Amino acid sequence: MNILIIGGAGFLGANLVRRCLAEPDVQITVMDSLEPHLHATTDNLRPVWSRIRFVRGDLRDETLLADIVQNKEIIFNCAAQTSHPLSIQYPLLDAEINCLGNLKLLESIRLLNKGARVIYVSSSTVIGKAVTEVVNEDHWERPLEIYSANKGVAEKYYRIYNTIHDLQTVVLRFANLYGPYGKGYPEFGFINYFIHLAHTGQEIRIFGPGSQSRNILHVNDATEILWKAAHEPRLTGESFFATGNEHLTVRQIADSIVSVFPRGTVSHTEWPDERKRMEIDHVTFSSERLRAIVDWKPAITFQEGLRQVKSVLEP
Ligand SMILES: NC(=O)c1ccc[n+]([C@@H]2O[C@H](COP(=O)([O-])OP(=O)(O)OC[C@H]3O[C@@H](n4cnc5c(N)ncnc54)[C@H](O)[C@@H]3O)[C@@H](O)[C@H]2O)c1
Repeated sequence: MNILIIGGAGFLGANLVRRCLAEPDVQITVMDSLEPHLHATTDNLRPVWSRIRFVRGDLRDETLLADIVQNKEIIFNCAAQTSHPLSIQYPLLDAEINCLGNLKLLESIRLLNKGARVIYVSSSTVIGKAVTEVVNEDHWERPLEIYSANKGVAEKYYRIYNTIHDLQTVVLRFANLYGPYGKGYPEFGFINYFIHLAHTGQEIRIFGPGSQSRNILHVNDATEILWKAAHEPRLTGESFFATGNEHLTVRQIADSIVSVFPRGTVSHTEWPDERKRMEIDHVTFSSERLRAIVDWKPAITFQEGLRQVKSVLEP
């Protein structure tokens, strides 16, 4: 089976490469621009380098896309400008990658490989602040920053290419993923950043009291549902929350990380104004709609997941 993983050098993509390699008879092509704003490198792929074909290239390059989408049965798009704060700083870059890049990809697939299964990774933050106690796919979308707005736009492209052109698209919305190969920088997913701080014995500084709740999911559970989504026709044309069972406060998350490593300390600091304005506060997601169709439920508890990440970082 020929599989294309765009953005496969990133955190989720590099874990997805490993999930796909666990299957027999797979040929994996990874395409990634190694985007400098995102601190992307091929380091995450080094242990599997000999088992993949790597192409350094950009989602916005139509000529490259026309070549690379051909003869692939499954196409995962994990490439994105992935930082919420950077999307405020560089809104045009965000739109070029997260909107135009996806449109160019869909056009290439429509023209050259209409039969492929196409899986797009979106974000739970497309909804903005939750107005219902439990959030499902019927919740409105009022994103609070440019990244989430553009992820929501891209979701619609995938749906429209299914409705109008019969492309086999599926959109999965993830919340807060953590796991091996995560980024140790504050402008990306906060759990991986907190893990980096604890691992390196530093202070975790939480904005405000940290009482806001967050949905958490180990990246292996995420790659498992990505694989299943690539093989389940009943998901086609729709967007689904693929979220975990655990909702913890930011303070609980930080405390758990510090206790598992066991290094680092937890303290509190004032909210920076910009971060406060894009804060989603409390939210509880339901992935019931997805689970009614696919036999998937998160298997890794936060405590187990943290011990697993520790064993990778500190073998
Ligand atoms: N990590 C999370 O908690 C989380 C949560 C929800 C959604 N997501 C989504 O999952 C996907 C993967 O996120 P991640 O956490 O692995 O981020 P990441 O920043 O680690 O990886 C993104 C990868 O995309 C590549 N990329 C960026 N622009 C590109 C372009 N124009 N052409 C080709 N490659 C490009 C980067 O070089 C990088 O390797 C993204 O779509 C993100 O929005 C992630």
